[in-house]
Amino acid sequence: MSDKIRMMLASGMHVLVAASSKGLGRAVAKVFLEQGASAVTISSRSRDNLSRTAKELASIGEGNVYAVPVDMTVREQVEGLVDRASQLMGRLDVAVYNTGPPRRGSFSELTVEDWEYASRLLVLSAIWFTYKVLERISRPGSIIYMASTAIHEANPNLALSSVLRTSLAGLMRIAAMEAGAMGVRVNMVVPGIARTDRMKELVESLAKEKGVSAEKAEREIVSRIPLGKPAEPEDVANAAVFLASDLARHVNGAAVVVDGGTTKRIL
Ligand SMILES: NC(=O)c1ccc[n+]([C@@H]2O[C@H](COP(=O)([O-])OP(=O)(O)OC[C@H]3O[C@@H](n4cnc5c(N)ncnc54)[C@H](OP(=O)(O)O)[C@@H]3O)[C@@H](O)[C@H]2O)c1
Repeated sequence: MSDKIRMMLASGMHVLVAASSKGLGRAVAKVFLEQGASAVTISSRSRDNLSRTAKELASIGEGNVYAVPVDMTVREQVEGLVDRASQLMGRLDVAVYNTGPPRRGSFSELTVEDWEYASRLLVLSAIWFTYKVLERISRPGSIIYMASTAIHEANPNLALSSVLRTSLAGLMRIAAMEAGAMGVRVNMVVPGIARTDRMKELVESLAKEKGVSAEKAEREIVSRIPLGKPAEPEDVANAAVFLASDLARHVNGAAVVVDGGTTKRIL
């Protein structure tokens, strides 16, 4: 294979991935390292999970791996994460925004407290993160938000996600226009169903709701995916690495859907 074909997409990049001790965030950190990132900072609430994941990731590629414990619902911690990652890595080229999943439930099953907490988890955290990243990030640089197909198709059992993540999509568009002029591209990855602990939770809730086995509930979920299987976390991560790479150098304000063709919207 020629060197040109073997060129790695994230060569030399210094990357922060929020909420990344497992699941999609962990896969994003992993694929950046596989694709040549020189430094990756991961974070999540649990120190134990974080240090275990940091050790696993350190054996991938040549890049340094740093870990910063953070709760994305606390403003000072989110801002501190961006500062600390920039200091540890010496530079911040790519900032990947991700958070933990919100509680599953219909509007009537949720409380006002659920909405307040989820607003910090899914909306305010993105705003705190974006302001701080724009202070710190290299030019050219890249911000990538992890969202959900709930921004395209309301899901009555995921009311928090359906309502609040549309704000994240709005933030992505606004930030792409303002930050684009400063040399920072802003884009979004929109996963459908991906094989993580979150998927297990959704399968178990559906099984309980319908009074069927977890296997049957999973078959029902998977039957809605034209490609016939959920995404692996790396499938979602590949889209994030592409968006950060030079191959996407004129892509700004885009939402890349990774759902195996499930979402029915035309545009
Ligand atoms: N998997 C899917 O099918 C899917 C589809 C569409 C959208 N999404 C969305 O994508 C995001 C990631 O999903 P996932 O499947 O990767 O979930 P996951 O496997 O449950 O992983 C969530 C990660 O976020 C961290 N986390 C949770 N709450 C946090 C908080 N308050 N502050 C900081 N870190 C936090 C967790 O670590 P700690 O517990 O240590 O904090 C963990 O590293 C979620 O917002 C989810 O709703 C997922």
